[in-house]
Amino acid sequence: MTKVIKGGTVVTADRSYKADVAIEGETIREIGPDLKGDEYVDATGAYVIPGGIDPHTHLEMPFMGTTAAETFESGTWAAAAGGTTMLVDFCLPGADGSIRNAINEWHRKSAPQICSDIGYHMAVTGWNETIFNEMKDAVDMGVNSFKHFMAYKGALMVEDDELFASFKRCRELGALPMVHAENGDVVDLLQKQMLEQGITGPEGHAYSRPPEVEGEAANRAIMIADAVGTPLYIVHVSCEQAHEAIRRARQKGMRVYGEPLAQFLILDDSEYLSKDWDHAAQRVMSPPFRSKEHQDGLWNGLAAGSLQVVATDHAAFTTEQKRMGRDNFCMIPNGTGGLEERLAVLWTYGVETGRLTPEEFVAVTSTNIAKILNIYPRKGALVPGADADITVWDPKISRTLSASNQKSVLDYSVWEGMQVSAQARYTLSRGDVIWAWGQNSQPQPGRGKFIPRPAFSSAARALSQWKELNSPRKVERDPLNIPAGI
Ligand code: URP
Ligand code: ZN
Ligand code: ZN
Ligand code: ZN
Repeated sequence: MTKVIKGGTVVTADRSYKADVAIEGETIREIGPDLKGDEYVDATGAYVIPGGIDPHTHLEMPFMGTTAAETFESGTWAAAAGGTTMLVDFCLPGADGSIRNAINEWHRKSAPQICSDIGYHMAVTGWNETIFNEMKDAVDMGVNSFKHFMAYKGALMVEDDELFASFKRCRELGALPMVHAENGDVVDLLQKQMLEQGITGPEGHAYSRPPEVEGEAANRAIMIADAVGTPLYIVHVSCEQAHEAIRRARQKGMRVYGEPLAQFLILDDSEYLSKDWDHAAQRVMSPPFRSKEHQDGLWNGLAAGSLQVVATDHAAFTTEQKRMGRDNFCMIPNGTGGLEERLAVLWTYGVETGRLTPEEFVAVTSTNIAKILNIYPRKGALVPGADADITVWDPKISRTLSASNQKSVLDYSVWEGMQVSAQARYTLSRGDVIWAWGQNSQPQPGRGKFIPRPAFSSAARALSQWKELNSPRKVERDPLNIPAGI
């Protein structure tokens, strides 16, 4: 049985051209003119793009005394409706601290629910011999990236020596270290100062997390990564201070990747001054939304290549959950949503405005992500043999984003009232049409697969080794080497 996506313009990260796409089973068989098949998907007047990959989500994550409301089913379904065919979710260790158990727990929760494919990152929230050993288990289980929280003091935060040791372990394993870059000690102090001054509302969240705390932590993580000789991925980059650090590192030849969020590119910090407490609290996340100047810098970084990918950090808490922080902003569960809207808002505010070309749009929403996370070209590519994760992207469907028409389980949308100019007409996951605009599609929980991501063997590691061999600081650096074991 051959399915042909007919009459569209194929857009990849490299180029755009008129072609049909023939799918056999779960993969792309052929791309070219006038292909014949047994079944057709109409792409007339639309773009045919690799399905979106969201590299940063938190579905059903236990966090800040509650659990994120978006489920694996509603999250992957919302993603499909928005043209995203894969997401990479963050596994957090449970009370026993075990990485292996956490991954198994994530499988248990996600497998019966997911409508499309997923991968995981693992969080490293402390440091001991078990974690050291189990990081290898994670890589063997197909999880090749580890996130470190430099904030959330007293909960998830790791210290600099722990960062160093874990980055070194990542390097040994061919895994990619990631950081949540905010100086948790300074945030903690500023939070206390805000409360002492009687600032208890959501605006206190933003005041206690200025861009400097993010820039400082980004710089620190980069220096630690450089000392270790490992690539580094900085999640949810919100400000020029962090972006600058990434730019500088890349100019020095380091492989540092930066991930702005759709929210940071479009929504700004004026939201926290809303007189409506719920409105402001619904937008509380870390780092917080920034001012307009930061947004210009992030857009420019995507165009210039100093920032490579756009994520959402989808961590969805209901209004009721947000109200846990009614008397103290420190208790508002941190997180916002965008899994469903990412492609549409990025197209509207990026491509329609001329800030991004359609090819750059594909690169930052899919292809670059697949490359950095080591699943390319199975994902993120339109080539024969790749998984047929494909979105038929219609630049002529304009609509208003609203909680009233979203697939997310949330009772609000941070995008409420925003007009977007494009929409997924069809979303295909490994050859199945899982979403068709206006055709009453239903979620198909359990059809998604976990996609193991292998350890890196090549370029990124080779660079680290080259640095080690050639670095004039080799001798100085040796005493810092943590002996094998821990
Ligand atoms: O506010 C956020 N970003 N919540 C999700 C957890 C994290 O830090 O990524
Ligand atoms: Zn984070
Ligand atoms: Zn409001
Ligand atoms: Zn996150």
